[in-house]
Amino acid sequence: MPPYLFLEIDKAKRKAREEGRDIIDLGVGDPDQPTPAHIIEKLYQASRDPATHRYALDQGMPVLRQAIANWYKGRFNVGLNPETEILPLIGSKEGLAHFPLAFLNEGDYSLVPDPSYPPYKGGTILAGGKPYLLPLNQANAFLPVLKKIPAQIRKKAKLLYINYPNNPTASTCEKEFYREVVEFASKNKIIVISDLAYSEIAYDGYRPSSFLEVDGSQEIGIEFHSLSKTYNMTGWRIGWACGNAKLISALAKIKSNIDSGIFSAIQLAGVAALEGPQQHIRETCRLYQERRDTLIQGLNSLGWPVTSPRATFYVWLKIPKKIDSIKFSKLLLEKADIVITPGVGFGQCAEGYIRMAITISKERIKEAIERLRKIF
Ligand SMILES: Cc1ncc(COP(=O)(O)O)c(C=O)c1O
Repeated sequence: MPPYLFLEIDKAKRKAREEGRDIIDLGVGDPDQPTPAHIIEKLYQASRDPATHRYALDQGMPVLRQAIANWYKGRFNVGLNPETEILPLIGSKEGLAHFPLAFLNEGDYSLVPDPSYPPYKGGTILAGGKPYLLPLNQANAFLPVLKKIPAQIRKKAKLLYINYPNNPTASTCEKEFYREVVEFASKNKIIVISDLAYSEIAYDGYRPSSFLEVDGSQEIGIEFHSLSKTYNMTGWRIGWACGNAKLISALAKIKSNIDSGIFSAIQLAGVAALEGPQQHIRETCRLYQERRDTLIQGLNSLGWPVTSPRATFYVWLKIPKKIDSIKFSKLLLEKADIVITPGVGFGQCAEGYIRMAITISKERIKEAIERLRKIF
């Protein structure tokens, strides 16, 4: 197993801060805005009730599973049975990483996009499986080209990970792509894992779809979702998996051997998030959109051409010099006190790229541009 990329970056960042340097952090994608007050208030109230202090062994509180079902129906018009088709998670990361334990035998393949969020590959390796990498690049609009997967790999592949809106490339997909995935996965008997963590972080009127909206998806697929980005709750650790009942029950079985549920007060706060006022999501997206525009205009003014993303809080950039992404990241840290994420941390195909996260203020983004201007 390689070391987890973000921990390495965090170490370098901490060291630079200890040296007294004024670091601008465009690295890890962690919302800087606070969790809305009504959600915090619910946690406070719920945590005063001793009933919430015990193990939460029931595969998620029924009230939370129902709130998730209602949210999916309202947002995507997808009907889910709260008893069998929804499983709350201690953040979607653990579910994404544990899922392969239920389905991969030694030597089986997972089809993993390259670049992608690291736990897809990590979870596959931990389960004894082999990641088969699907290159995402500009030429294929950052979508995996399924028809290029060789027949002998299709035979040994059990899982396919997809993630739109995408981390790290910020690319999006249309429903047509999901239809193609359903056809491919049904024909080859492959389970689809759709990661929808960024569905609510979108701009310019764009509204991402769910994989589960497409006919046939629920026979072969499972979708992972998170309260982290939508409600600024990354540290709370709450998300869920939903979709095919057999897949949900297999993941629940694995998890029942590993963890003992989410703190009940956090589950009740999760209900408050899903059922309470949603106004802040629009406001947060407006804030990110403003920052995105500031960053893109700034980069363009440096002669650095960048595509403006319509979702996620990431900007995916081709490095303008002939230098690899780790060296370029080190250069920016040394010469400009700027932290960014090297593309290669998400996969070999992302060599030559870097990712910037717009989870800092507009003023700091402007300052970052001025620092870059000095070294370009
Ligand atoms: C694509 C993607 N999926 C899932 C997650 C995990 O979210 P959480 O575990 O906080 O629910 C992240 C977090 O950065 C992500 O980028």
